Amino acid sequence: MCGIVGYLGQKEAYPILIKGLHRLEYRGYDSAGIALINGGLNVYKRKGKVAELEAFVKGKDISGPIGIAHTRWATHGEPTDENAHPHMSQSKELSLIHNGIIENYDVLRNELINRGYTFNSHTDTEVLVYLIEDIQKNEGVELSEAVRIALNQVIGAYAIVILSKNDPDTLIAAKKGSPLVIGIGEDEFFIASDATPIVEYTKEVVYLNDEEMAVIRRNNDLRIKTIKNQDKTPYIQTLEMNLSQLEKGGFEHFMLKEIYEQPRSIMDSMRGRLNAKKGIVSLGGIIDYEQKMVAANRIIIIACGTSWHAGLVGEYLFEDLARTPVEVEYASEFRYRNPVIYENDVVIAISQSGETADTLAAIELARSKGATILGICNVVGSSIARATDAGSYTHAGPEIGVASTKAFTAQVTVLTLMALRIAQLKGTLSKSRFQQILFELESIPEKVEKTLKVSKRVITIAEEFCQVRNFLYLGRGYNFPVALEGALKLKEISYIHAEGYPAAEMKHGPIALIDEEMPVVFIAPLKGVYEKVISNIQEVKARRGKVIAIVTEGDHAVSEMADYTIEIPETEEMLVPLLATIPLQKLSYHIALMRGCNVDQPRNLAKSVTVE
Ligand code: AGP
Ligand code: GLU
Repeated sequence: MCGIVGYLGQKEAYPILIKGLHRLEYRGYDSAGIALINGGLNVYKRKGKVAELEAFVKGKDISGPIGIAHTRWATHGEPTDENAHPHMSQSKELSLIHNGIIENYDVLRNELINRGYTFNSHTDTEVLVYLIEDIQKNEGVELSEAVRIALNQVIGAYAIVILSKNDPDTLIAAKKGSPLVIGIGEDEFFIASDATPIVEYTKEVVYLNDEEMAVIRRNNDLRIKTIKNQDKTPYIQTLEMNLSQLEKGGFEHFMLKEIYEQPRSIMDSMRGRLNAKKGIVSLGGIIDYEQKMVAANRIIIIACGTSWHAGLVGEYLFEDLARTPVEVEYASEFRYRNPVIYENDVVIAISQSGETADTLAAIELARSKGATILGICNVVGSSIARATDAGSYTHAGPEIGVASTKAFTAQVTVLTLMALRIAQLKGTLSKSRFQQILFELESIPEKVEKTLKVSKRVITIAEEFCQVRNFLYLGRGYNFPVALEGALKLKEISYIHAEGYPAAEMKHGPIALIDEEMPVVFIAPLKGVYEKVISNIQEVKARRGKVIAIVTEGDHAVSEMADYTIEIPETEEMLVPLLATIPLQKLSYHIALMRGCNVDQPRNLAKSVTVE
């Protein structure tokens, strides 16, 4: 998530830092800030764009050859001036910038509050800088040692850089889970979340590994050690990429980058919320509403587009696992059709952007009828996040591609966690079954990683079908929404007409479309109603339709019938959507590319639909 820049050298730091922040703008962010040492330690930070920060510092002292800068994409606390980074320690001697999420911030924060500290922001980050200072003072150790000790107490993901008023010749950086790269110039160092802010100054870089920290001092002094105190020799690499490649993390498009981010984004949406070994699922944001959910006669899910598809997976999850009836509504229909809503209904609004006008209006309607409203949003502090009573963020990171990919899998992950938690409270699953699902959920990021390796196969299929005019996507049970989402993705970015259907509905109409020209994508894992799906495939084959099947590794029956198969790893039935979606995203991407379409900004579409 978001951007870090640091500079230590002979030049003025400010112009380098601001330029670096601009270079990282593509990552998406909601506030920006900078800390410089010029006499004292000065921190300037502002909600909004980097340009607003620039306007804010006009006339202020921005001199100095060392500094750190940050663009924040809020995960804990709304985007405000106070929550923007850098954050200062209590004594204001240290300032810190952070990308990522400190999972155990709440425990650490309460401990510090009990010891008399008061906080100025709602972020997890401020807790870390307080903790570092607390260790430094109480244990009488130097700053780098205090950072090391603190990082051993931290659970979560971080890339951090620290600047100390008392040591204007040193920067300390560390990372775990979030990226950090150090650029080595002549008598100068650069630090950044990726190489884009660095590449115009030097091509020599060191990528920090997880749980490594770097102490950077003047006179080309770079030392790296692990947080377990093991010294490491810096491994210097030479950058070969150009700037535009770098911005997209080496991928050709944001959409592809976001597809490939899914092992990490799914992990982030589970971070701090799932512990299979201990049998714990906890969603901090909705803890006060859990009993309402347990007591609810009904859950109503409202959303649009891809988020609505995630809601449909949610319907299967809540009904299957927690035995709570669910209705999934298009927000735009719900808001105008005088729906029956009871006070003990729990409404869940799902939205990546958190700004979708129809979803907001539907929330207002549900509120006027007295229902409890929870949100599942990606953008922290967004309108929908604020309009709901409580909620769980998806923490997928900024999604830039207009076609939603990683947001969908993160939404499904959060819905799975919610359904599991309610199931646990309602006792609708046996303990062993519950735990079995948790273990499987924990292994999903790894399985997504494996699923991403199907490129060659997908490209062959894309080549075969990129010129067709229609596509049909069919799935049953949990995979019916996957079929809908697969079809939407193809429509959105390749402009090929595509329909998603429950596989058995085919014979009630769409079967009339099938001939030798019609590709039909079946989501046919070895779970649930596998045998029934086989019959549906036969119906298509009998009419000479072309079958592309998403199957479980090692599958025989479907593979023998299908023209093309794409394998996904075996998993629990309710988790298949998290895997089966991946090759469908890739198929759409490659077909769109072959048709010369603008994958990241498809015609007529907007990333957040703020009009009804
Ligand atoms: C997804 O690929 C679409 N661009 C679109 O359907 C989107 O999911 C819909 O507009 C809802 O947006 P939201 O999740 O930001 O509310
Ligand atoms: N968790 C931190 C916050 O909410 C950092 C977010 C980021 O990566 O920008 O402030």
